[in-house]
Amino acid sequence: MRILFLGDIVGRAGRDAVAAALPRLRQSLKLDLVVVNAENASHGFGLAPAMADALFAAGADVLTLGNHAWDRKELVGYIEREPRLLRPLNFAPGTPGQGSVLVDLPNGKRALVLQAMGRLFMEPSDDPFRATAELLGKHRLGTTVDAVIADIHAEATSEKMAYAHSFDGRISLVVGTHTHVPTADTQILPGGTAYQTDAGMCGDYNSVIGMDKGAAAAKFWRRIPGERLAPADGEATLCGVFVETDARTGLAVNVAPLREGGRLAGATI
Ligand SMILES: [Fe+2]
Ligand SMILES: [Fe+2]
Repeated sequence: MRILFLGDIVGRAGRDAVAAALPRLRQSLKLDLVVVNAENASHGFGLAPAMADALFAAGADVLTLGNHAWDRKELVGYIEREPRLLRPLNFAPGTPGQGSVLVDLPNGKRALVLQAMGRLFMEPSDDPFRATAELLGKHRLGTTVDAVIADIHAEATSEKMAYAHSFDGRISLVVGTHTHVPTADTQILPGGTAYQTDAGMCGDYNSVIGMDKGAAAAKFWRRIPGERLAPADGEATLCGVFVETDARTGLAVNVAPLREGGRLAGATI
């Protein structure tokens, strides 16, 4: 299977870049599955239902969220009707929505997509390691599912690496989100799981992690109550990870970063 994961969409710049590129990438890369993190799509904070609809229409199969899941409150009702939209699976029991979804593809293959959220330097949540282990106990890569994609939404590199190694050989791709900067550690782990600590964002890199650099810097110099950040609005760099899996085992045989447009040095597949 040929799978593309795109990192956190930040604001209009990110939304426009993804909407423009996805139909073309689906064709040119012959993608079977596209997963996009969209937690910052709505002006940097959350995701509006209409934006989720537009991303599905543009070619996303599954959308993931993160700590900004409920910044747009309308999404609480929407997520209960839309199984292709995921929030972290280790949110407290009773939280609306799901943290994983089984996707049946037109080619007859079945993929499991999940999102977990880290706990280091993040808001409190249940254990992402145990929650993922419990879910993977119900699905076996290469037997009941043809691919497993995990979005580990976390601040700390160490937690993301520990997570990936914990599930090496049981997940096709573990990819980090949340820091908005792509890391250069793209690799296939010894057990066959493709990994990159952070996918990077789909947003304007003339910014502080996607937000207007002047206002973001000012927050470090002084705190003025009520000041709200806005996304930077220059051309976005599309950032993601491409993985190709073995048809029999579901493990990774090829992994590569994707970066195009905007300010970052490019990486093509
Ligand atoms: Fe984010
Ligand atoms: Fe986040």
